[in-house]
Amino acid sequence: MTKIRHKIAVISGKGGVGKSLVTVNLAVALALNGRNGRVGVLDADIHGPCVPKMLGLEGERLQSGPPGVFPAFGPLNIKVVSMAFLLPSVDAPVIWRGPLKMGAIRQFLSDIAWGDLDYLLIDLPPGTGDESLSVLQLLPEMDGVIIVTIPSEVSQDVVKKAVSFARKMGVPILGIVENMSGVVCPHCGEQVDVFGSGGGEKVATDMGVTFLGSIPLDPRISKTTDAGAPFIIEEPDSQAAAVFRKIVEKVERKTEG
Ligand SMILES: Nc1ncnc2c1ncn2[C@@H]1O[C@H](COP(=O)(O)OP(=O)(O)O)[C@@H](O)[C@H]1O
Ligand SMILES: [Mg+2]
Repeated sequence: MTKIRHKIAVISGKGGVGKSLVTVNLAVALALNGRNGRVGVLDADIHGPCVPKMLGLEGERLQSGPPGVFPAFGPLNIKVVSMAFLLPSVDAPVIWRGPLKMGAIRQFLSDIAWGDLDYLLIDLPPGTGDESLSVLQLLPEMDGVIIVTIPSEVSQDVVKKAVSFARKMGVPILGIVENMSGVVCPHCGEQVDVFGSGGGEKVATDMGVTFLGSIPLDPRISKTTDAGAPFIIEEPDSQAAAVFRKIVEKVERKTEG
């Protein structure tokens, strides 16, 4: 892990808010920003690993050699390691008890030959339970966490837990990203705020955390992601792609100083 300059974990209060999507697109935005081959993604979501599918690496298996386990290479030479690479099939569940699970995460982190990386993004399991805790504890000198939420009030309550969690762990919070903030009707052009609006920014202000940006709902995001093609490469002119690039600028400024 010593040849990794910056380590950032992406966390959320709960699942389904787009944590993996944000992780993958931030990795791509970083790679596009002159870091081809120097960005890695660790998919530490043991029970729902989906980074491989999002980066077109489904069915990939890990190879190992003398220096350790080699990551797979995704678009823009993004180095990817996922629990999914160890499973016999995509629909096989991981049914492990606590200690085994923790052992797997520890091994994940110690045996991988990442090589030189500018950024390693870690997609943690949803919520603030065991696995998130272990990964954060096992990773020394994290630059910080990015917290993903959606605008609804229900989510604002749980995202506060994530903020407290990071603070208790002594990990800096790089900021909050609000995802699924409104959709523009393809027929009339009007914006519909499906989950309300401004929730992420409000929590950020309330909790004294940086607000990094709002990513709209966009059917093209879901479509390209399911196809394993990174959204910001496929739709570089979209509003969401611009927001991802802005977030990366902010994150680079915070981490590079
Ligand atoms: N802004 C968005 N617009 C459209 N679809 C989205 C958006 N954000 C996430 N999705 C889709 O929603 C689903 C859940 O996102 P995911 O990143 O897997 O959530 P999490 O990792 O938080 O559980 C995925 O199919 C993803 O492609
Ligand atoms: Mg996920």
